[in-house]
Amino acid sequence: MNHSEYLEQNKDRFLNELLEILRIPSVSADSKYAEDVKRTAAFVAEKLKAAGADNVEICPTAGHPIVYGEKFVDAALPTILVYGHYDVQPADPVELWHSPPFEPVIKQTEEHPEGAIYARGACDDKGQMYMHVKAFESMMNTGSLTCNVKFMIEGEEEVGSANLGTFIKANKEKLKSDVVLVSDTSMIANDTPSIDVGLRGLAYMEVEVVGPNRDLHSGVYGGAVANPATILCQMIAAMHDENNHITIPGFYDDVITVSDADRAEMAKAPFSEEAYKKDLGIAETWGEKGYSTVERTSIRPTLEVNGIWGGYIGEGSKTVLPSKANAKISMRLVPGQNSHKISDLFKAYFENAAPANVKVTVTAHHGGEPVLTPTDSVEFRAAAMAMEKTFGKKPIPTRGGGSIPIIALFEAELGIKSVLMGFGLDSDALHSPNEKYGLFNYYKGIETIPYFYQFYAELNK
Ligand code: BES
Ligand code: MN
Ligand code: MN
Repeated sequence: MNHSEYLEQNKDRFLNELLEILRIPSVSADSKYAEDVKRTAAFVAEKLKAAGADNVEICPTAGHPIVYGEKFVDAALPTILVYGHYDVQPADPVELWHSPPFEPVIKQTEEHPEGAIYARGACDDKGQMYMHVKAFESMMNTGSLTCNVKFMIEGEEEVGSANLGTFIKANKEKLKSDVVLVSDTSMIANDTPSIDVGLRGLAYMEVEVVGPNRDLHSGVYGGAVANPATILCQMIAAMHDENNHITIPGFYDDVITVSDADRAEMAKAPFSEEAYKKDLGIAETWGEKGYSTVERTSIRPTLEVNGIWGGYIGEGSKTVLPSKANAKISMRLVPGQNSHKISDLFKAYFENAAPANVKVTVTAHHGGEPVLTPTDSVEFRAAAMAMEKTFGKKPIPTRGGGSIPIIALFEAELGIKSVLMGFGLDSDALHSPNEKYGLFNYYKGIETIPYFYQFYAELNK
């Protein structure tokens, strides 16, 4: 039996196991779920062991544990380090889900006629991570494991992977591999495979603007005292100019611009502006002048308000001039930019821009560096061949708009490149209510991964 036949025979069980792990609410950001996060790690460890991995460990960290496991076949074969994450984003706003986020259901949609699993983490990243466990099982049970493999599945990706960084630095020998294989990104469409050859970096900031020493009656004091909410909104609005360029001095200094030839190549990938607007329910797109929607979400840096609050937000009305206002603001970075430098520029700008009638505090949260992966490498070719084999079409190289901060660290600390062979879709609603993952995508991933191992071993000979 080959691995595809094995998949065919075990489809239902592979699905049921995924549904089982999706039922555990492994929200890394919320300490209330710490026990569930632990149970999820134990689930992954147990399944790796059952599939035939050796030296399976649940490695404790200062935060959530890392699951490790390996299978050594032959010193002459290359070693693949599989990275993924079993933690998920918080499910809120829960009231916007059509079914409970941790009670997966399968429904058909126009985009997923074979059915899609609705649950938090279905695509990001439990569904995609678990494909690797099942592909490994398939290779083990059909005698077709053609590479050595090490699994490193973490529980803190959605909160910045700080402890994984420490783990990597402390375990360089143990993690020694030739390439990192990751499925935590998306492709263009189910009939248009693509492989991300870049990811953006991230600098995440929190700001506080404080005015008067207490909340004030807005009639008695309003008009004479600067309102921190108004000031904060003005400061935020001023960070984009009329061309939607970011106004922080020096922000674009290190951006490596993409050549016109590369931009023309990128523009060939199928993309419908109309379908994009329709999907999001917006009349117009928005963004930096001179760039397309795809470019704005891949090769250009951006600045977004992730949250903003202050004053009275309860039921009814309360006439108040708030003492303070806050916002969480993040910037997506592109190759050339450095998250620490950008955080410093933001801080300096924001502190300077504050008028004398308020005090501002700027704190930096987690960040991460952008990555670019070559398309002429053995690993990219192996991934492209694997996808071509199972989709019947050559995948298009694309640049992802999201961030996986640890990828840059793999290169810096372990000296190895990553290949981002993702099977999700942008429309799978990652981080949003009603996240989903197509059954087509789940099974296609399990079918494709063993071919990556096969072609990677062949190309390394
Ligand atoms: N899997 C995503 C990143 C992603 C999604 C990359 C789609 C490309 C396409 C990952 O889990 C994620 O959400 N990363 C965070 C960063 C993290 C530090 C919270 C992000 O991009 O916001
Ligand atoms: Mn992810
Ligand atoms: Mn995510």
